[in-house]
Amino acid sequence: MTDFYALSDEHQAIRETVRALADAKIAPFAAAVDEEARYPREAHDALVAGGFHAPHVPEEYGGPGADALATVLVIEEVARACVSSSLIPAVNKLGSLPVQIGGSEELKHTYLGKLAAGEGGFSYCLSEPEAGSDAANQKTRAVRDGDHWVINGTKRWITNAGESEYYTVLTMTDPQKRSKGITAFVVEKSDEGVSFGAPERKLGIKGSPTREVYFDDVRIPEDRMIGHEGEGFAIAMQTLDHTRVTIAAQAVGVAQGALDYALGYVQERQQFGKPISDFQGLQFMVADMGMKIEAARQLTYAAAGRSERGDQDLTFFGAAAKAFASDVAMQVTTDAVQLLGGYGFTRDYPVERMMRDAKITQIYEGTNQVQRIVMARQLLAGIQS
Ligand code: CAA
Repeated sequence: MTDFYALSDEHQAIRETVRALADAKIAPFAAAVDEEARYPREAHDALVAGGFHAPHVPEEYGGPGADALATVLVIEEVARACVSSSLIPAVNKLGSLPVQIGGSEELKHTYLGKLAAGEGGFSYCLSEPEAGSDAANQKTRAVRDGDHWVINGTKRWITNAGESEYYTVLTMTDPQKRSKGITAFVVEKSDEGVSFGAPERKLGIKGSPTREVYFDDVRIPEDRMIGHEGEGFAIAMQTLDHTRVTIAAQAVGVAQGALDYALGYVQERQQFGKPISDFQGLQFMVADMGMKIEAARQLTYAAAGRSERGDQDLTFFGAAAKAFASDVAMQVTTDAVQLLGGYGFTRDYPVERMMRDAKITQIYEGTNQVQRIVMARQLLAGIQS
């Protein structure tokens, strides 16, 4: 008999395996990665060795073929130890999912294969200086030249830029048509004319480089187009429907990491002659933290189910899970700092890093205000579960 409303044995096993890997090979470097703002090479190597760097890639393209829930579990467990490191599997999914959704079989075999084999990461180039929340306002141009396309423009806020070998790049191919004039291409780091800005100096996720990407007469063959001309925006939005669930997973993971640490601390720390966990005021805080995390987790897993099945209400669930879980992550990590008092405010304890890292989950892959626009549109269109 199967358990009702519980993780399968396979999913539970994935969680345990990744938790052990994260505890042994990722957590020990998390503080240094943040302090030195350096790429988490140890995590990268451990994830590639374990086959967890791009778990979503289907088996037919050489990947492990993890379903959406298994991918969420991988990202959640890595984020519990180090949010910067969790961006490796998360951004590899974000960057490559457009190829999986809209690419030709040839493109899928080539690029999903390279990603799965650990030959290079995959970043997603949608945002621009003038196209943040207004993602359709693309200025990067692609112009046909025979059987090639020539790309010019600037992308901003590109996660893992410079580290990744492959980039899904959204371009404007017909400015008259706005969102229907946007076309996606795969561009390689080694393509002539591709260069990168200086790493942004950020509040959190300091181990994950965020840079501008410049395209200066980058000439690429026609077969690097993802789908057809004009399909890029829809592919980009469909991708975000799925990957907002992975940001929710990150948020759940970092919140759980902060609660775990705080629970240990409040039982050790003595004031007024007893552990501070004996005080009901603090007990109420940890109860709320645990309750909120569990609610966020359940919504995230429910959204992952919709992602796996491709349900019509995924757009709502992806936005809801991302907005809810990231708000929870901010509240819980801030409360964890409060529970540690002055110690929590120092870099000698991990919770201030977790609080700084949590903040981005309310911003990227669409601000939580954009998520509410997306949810409201779905509700008003009558699309609900
Ligand atoms: N699935 C499929 N197609 C979709 C879609 C979806 N979820 N959403 C929109 N589309 C298509 C539709 O075909 C639509 O055309 P129709 O009129 O024919 O239906 C077309 O796109 C235009 O859609 P909208 O009219 O809804 O577009 P809009 O200009 O009003 O924008 C928006 C809507 C929701 C605000 C959108 O711009 C948005 O999501 N903005 C936020 C962008 C974002 O999330 N950026 C994050 C960048 S990635 C990141 O953070 C990176 C990182 O490195 C971690």
